[in-house]
Amino acid sequence: MDNGAKDAALRERAASVIPGGMYGHMAMGARMPANYPQFFARAKGARLWDVDGNEYIDYICSYGPMIAGYGNERIAARAEAQRRSIDIGNGPAANVVELAERLVGTVAHADWAVFSKNGNDATTTCVMAARAHRGRSKVLVARGAYHGSQPWANRRAPGAPGTEHGAFPEYAFNDAASVEGVVREHSGQIAGIMVSAFRHDAGSHQELVDPNFAAAVRRLCDQEDAALILDDVRAGFRLSLDASWSLLGIRPDLSAWGKAIANGEPLAATLGSERFRDAMKSVFVTGSFWYQSAPMAAALETLDVLHEENAPARLEALGQRLRDGIDEVARLHQERIRQSGPPQMPAVMFEDDPNCERGLALCSRLIEHGVYFHPWHNMFLSLAHTEDDIDRTIEAVDGAMGEL
Ligand SMILES: Cc1ncc(COP(=O)(O)O)c(C=O)c1O
Repeated sequence: MDNGAKDAALRERAASVIPGGMYGHMAMGARMPANYPQFFARAKGARLWDVDGNEYIDYICSYGPMIAGYGNERIAARAEAQRRSIDIGNGPAANVVELAERLVGTVAHADWAVFSKNGNDATTTCVMAARAHRGRSKVLVARGAYHGSQPWANRRAPGAPGTEHGAFPEYAFNDAASVEGVVREHSGQIAGIMVSAFRHDAGSHQELVDPNFAAAVRRLCDQEDAALILDDVRAGFRLSLDASWSLLGIRPDLSAWGKAIANGEPLAATLGSERFRDAMKSVFVTGSFWYQSAPMAAALETLDVLHEENAPARLEALGQRLRDGIDEVARLHQERIRQSGPPQMPAVMFEDDPNCERGLALCSRLIEHGVYFHPWHNMFLSLAHTEDDIDRTIEAVDGAMGEL
C-alpha cells in the first residue's frame, strides 16, 4: 500500500471547499475504515486505482453502474462515436427511439419508455405517472427502503422536512399482512405501491422477495386500480434481462431503472405499461441533460453485451464462487458471517455485529490486500470479474480474517 499522502492532501483541500469534505454515498468521512481511499485516479475492467497508485479488485462497481467493466471498449467506442456526431442539441437524436424500442422489446411489462439521468428522476417520474393515473396522491413505500435522496424519498436528513411524507405511508417489506393493512387504511387514495427488487437496505442483511408478498402486492394494486411500481434502479439487469420481479412471474405497471443500464454513462429510464401511457403523457418531466444521446448509445451497446454474455447467469456463477469460497474460509477461521442477497449482489456481514465493527475491521484489512469490499452495503459483480479475481479475493479474505 502506498501511504495515502495524495488522498490525505485532497481530503484536506476538499474540507474547505466541499461541505463535509464529500457528500452522499461516496463520502468516506468517519463512516468507513480510515484506510479507505476517498479519491480515485483510474478504473479499468474490474480494477480501481486510487490517487496514491494502490490497486483494488473492486466489488462496488461504482455502487452499481459498472456492469460490463470500467472503460469497456465496445461500449465506450459506441458512446464516443455518438458524441462525435451529436450528444445534446435542440432535440434528441434518433437513437432515443431505438433505445425505447429496445427496452420495450426487452422488458415484458413495458410498452413505453421515458429517459432521464439518475435513479431519483426515474422513481420520481414513476410517482408522478402513478398519481396522474387516477388523480390520487398516496404511494406506499417499504420502511427503510432507498428510492433516492430527493425529499419525498428521504426521511432521514435535515433539508428533507417531511412535509410530503404523509403521502408515502410505510409498510414492512416481505410482509403481506403489513401491506394489506396499510392499503386498508388508505383505500381509495392510493396511486401506487413501490417495491424494491429485493430487500437491499444498507446496514441490514439482504432478503430475497417472498413470492406470497409479491403476489399480494400485485393483487392489491389491481384491487385499488393503483400502480405496482418496481424500483429496479439498483438490481436492474443483474438478476434478469427482464424486470427483476419477472423471476417471480409478476409484472409491475411502472418500473424505474438507472445505474447499470448504460454501464456508467449517465442514464435512467422509466418504463410503463399501456394502462399508464395517458398518465405519463399528461405529466411534465424534463431536464437539460435527459436527452443526451451518447449515454443512449452506450445503453444500446450495453444491452447487446449483457445479452451476448447472458449477464445474469454469468454474474450469478461468479457471485456463487465468491460466496462458497468466503463461506469456506470463514469456517476455517471460525468466523460467524452471513452472506445474503442474490449472488450477483452479495452482502457479506457478520452475525451479531450490529454496529458493523467486525465488518469494518475485515474491510479495513481487505483494502490492504487490494480488495475493495463494503462493510454494510450490498456489493456488485460485473462481467469484467474473472474466476482468477474471485480466487484472489478469497485468498485475500483468508489473509484478512487471519489478521482479525
Ligand atoms: C433502489 C434505488 N432506487 C433509487 C436510487 C437512486 O438512484 P440515483 O442515485 O441514481 O439517483 C438508488 C441509488 O442507490 C437505489 O439503489
